[in-house]
Amino acid sequence: MRTLNVNLGERSYPIYIGQNVLADSHCFLPYIKGRKAAIVTNETIAPLYLQRLIDSLPGKDVTSIVLPDGEAYKNWEVLQTIFDALLRDRHDRSTTLIALGGGVVGDMTGFAAACYQRGVAFIQVPTTLLSQVDSSVGGKTGINHPLGKNMIGAFYQPKSVVIDTSVLKTLPEKELSAGLAEVIKYGLICDEPFLVWLEEHIERLRHVDPESLIEAIERSCAAKADVVGTDEREAGLRAILNLGHTFGHAIESHQGYGAWLHGEAVAAGTAMALDMSCRLGWLSEAQRQRALRLLIRAGLPIAPPGEMTPDDFMKYMAIDKKVLDGQLRLVLLKQLGEAVVTSDFPYNILKDTLSADYQALAEQLGD
Ligand code: NAD
Ligand code: GLY
Repeated sequence: MRTLNVNLGERSYPIYIGQNVLADSHCFLPYIKGRKAAIVTNETIAPLYLQRLIDSLPGKDVTSIVLPDGEAYKNWEVLQTIFDALLRDRHDRSTTLIALGGGVVGDMTGFAAACYQRGVAFIQVPTTLLSQVDSSVGGKTGINHPLGKNMIGAFYQPKSVVIDTSVLKTLPEKELSAGLAEVIKYGLICDEPFLVWLEEHIERLRHVDPESLIEAIERSCAAKADVVGTDEREAGLRAILNLGHTFGHAIESHQGYGAWLHGEAVAAGTAMALDMSCRLGWLSEAQRQRALRLLIRAGLPIAPPGEMTPDDFMKYMAIDKKVLDGQLRLVLLKQLGEAVVTSDFPYNILKDTLSADYQALAEQLGD
């Protein structure tokens, strides 16, 4: 088992990474102070892993809360059912919530923990690659609003993050690729040597090779922990973790939550950020194509939905959380391995990026 630390003073916490750590009580019991705990999961994951987790909590009085599966359920109504179950089973402030699932379960459980009785402890047990490398670390929690992704939420850190790589064996291939979008993101924004490593290991990752996965997850979590440790509440640096997300969230909101996987939307959004970085003269065409080829080899789309117009993008991008004082800020690349957050770009360059023909490029690069 490998252990990393997210350094946030008194809110610091460990990230445990390894095969079969789900069955290791030592990863859980020290972080559950009271007698009661509640596992929040969904109807897909429950039959696969719920009992294994319950078995790792000997002596605890456990409530299981099984949500419907899907991004479309990351909303107020479903959040309320978590509170219903906690109150029904008389969970008090000493309880601990445990999120067993992907980013949807993790974000909702974290938000429920932040709100329930003004805040109770929670543990993240991420079961998708995307949640293992990104959403379970850093304390962003929340739900969607029909008008915008993740618009209602709180910064609220878990007590620990337990990453069992063996659960990735049951993850659908498309979901694994979606997770790779966020892994590749770390290489693009802050770690060019990791990008080289990914170019060498992408096939092994897609074949769920345990050693390669552990390495990729550890390097991704280490990068995220570094950024979060410096800028927990996104006063500045943390925004670089949103490479491709402003365009990607617009795709998700426009298409209807769940129609595009988050990681797929991030990949197409990253292709748009690469395009704009090229137009601004920061990246060469060769660098852009190198990044796009890696996304394609990871099984990801590099073209946004053909029917989305620049106006469609602008409608959703105008309410992105990186908009400050009405000014749109974008994460772009100064070079491969160096991101910048900027509002200093000519509007016509953004317009050209929003209207570029990505499908043609995808065909040219062999998508
Ligand atoms: P998800 O939670 O919807 O999970 C994807 C699918 O895989 C679901 O159908 C799920 O039931 C299934 N699944 C999960 N684990 C499985 C397993 N081991 N075996 C078989 N099936 C499994 O999607 P996701 O990609 O994990 O997360 C996306 C969400 O995360 C979005 O809502 C996004 O906004 C959020 N997110 C949050 C942050 C953050 O910092 N908080 C960062 C990135 C993404
Ligand atoms: N996923 C972006 C962040 O955690 O800041």
